[in-house]
Amino acid sequence: MSEPEGLQGVPEASEKGTAYGQYAGFEDLDAERLRRRRSEKWRAYPPDVLPAFIAEMDYDLAEPVREALRAAIDLGDCGYANPAGLSEAFALFCAERGGWAVETGRVFLVPDVMAGVDALLTLLTSPGDGVVINPPVYPPFFAHIRNAGRRVVEVPVVRDEGRWTLDFPALEAAFSAGARAFLLCSPHNPTGRVFSRDDLLTIAELSTRYGVAVLSDEIHAPLTLPGAEHTPFVSLGDEAGRNAVTLASASKAFNVAGLKCAVLVAGSEAMRRRLSLLPASCQFGAGLLGVVASIAAWRSGGPWLDRLIEQLDRVRGEFGKLLAERLPEAVYTPPEAGYLAWVDCSGLAPGREPGLSPASVFLSRGKVALGDGRDFGAVGEGFVRVTIGTSTRLLTEIADRMAAAVRA
Ligand SMILES: Cc1ncc(COP(=O)(O)O)c(C=O)c1O
Repeated sequence: MSEPEGLQGVPEASEKGTAYGQYAGFEDLDAERLRRRRSEKWRAYPPDVLPAFIAEMDYDLAEPVREALRAAIDLGDCGYANPAGLSEAFALFCAERGGWAVETGRVFLVPDVMAGVDALLTLLTSPGDGVVINPPVYPPFFAHIRNAGRRVVEVPVVRDEGRWTLDFPALEAAFSAGARAFLLCSPHNPTGRVFSRDDLLTIAELSTRYGVAVLSDEIHAPLTLPGAEHTPFVSLGDEAGRNAVTLASASKAFNVAGLKCAVLVAGSEAMRRRLSLLPASCQFGAGLLGVVASIAAWRSGGPWLDRLIEQLDRVRGEFGKLLAERLPEAVYTPPEAGYLAWVDCSGLAPGREPGLSPASVFLSRGKVALGDGRDFGAVGEGFVRVTIGTSTRLLTEIADRMAAAVRA
């Protein structure tokens, strides 16, 4: 049988002969080796702390990405970024995986998603304008809006029978009160919710009615898990996308966030014209190795991504079992996309002590670093975010340390 493009010579996972068969590679993680990494995940805390706080997976890079990076290094190809081939590779990836026909002329290189958000806020809104977000939400959303001199308008997501949903009446109230932009997190970090096409159509209708720009951060979309279906906002068509931009990147799905490459996709011809005014720093702030890695990931990373999604599907279930056994008071709804688990720990005694949060207790008593729910907005009080993109063994260690902290 011929091997998939870019994967020639890579041993089949099952040949490694571990108990995990096809998941080998994702399951064969060595904590000591991981601790040699220089990334924020592995350097922010002392070595006795197990880190699961930041959105970085523990898995090794996809082979096509590694090969492309090695080739660039061997060539001394570390100059300024040029986007040649990037929009075509992105369009191929979107067509193959989501049936989304991206117009390559509407794709713009930016250094990363948050730099794209900064550029869009400057381009599409004015100082003092309200920008809507849905807490609990990715913490830098708050800071980037404030740093741009815009106003944060909070419209929290609400729990509906365990599932997090958008509060459309509150969203409409915020739009009608004068908000100028909506920074949508789709899929939603930290809840892992994938919004339905109908949800997005409602947003499009409201944003058109009130003249609100939609900035749709879809960084976690390639990691949509079985049972859910992600709709790229700007795939809804030119009318819905008239005042919209989708922000995308290979960085979360392929674990290359430090390489600095993301794209903006204009939802209409009018928006394309506006994005053509983006400053040159958008291109030159991006990393060439990020462009190289993204092209390789989007062109040849599909088979690896399929196996990763199987792994994440498995670990989201494993984590539920571990919590049920060790911390039955914790409330967890498995994510529909990505590798972040949003866990309600408000029923656990330690986090309720004055001045303490569950995350601070897990860190001090259990030596496990988790995302502190309070950083995701006031509605995150009592929650932790756990990065579960790791092996079953390390996931078990995370849960054991959480349980030990509660017992301590
Ligand atoms: C929803 C969301 N947006 C943006 C980012 C950051 O992306 P970038 O590093 O491309 O700015 C993250 C990182 O975890 C994220 O979860």
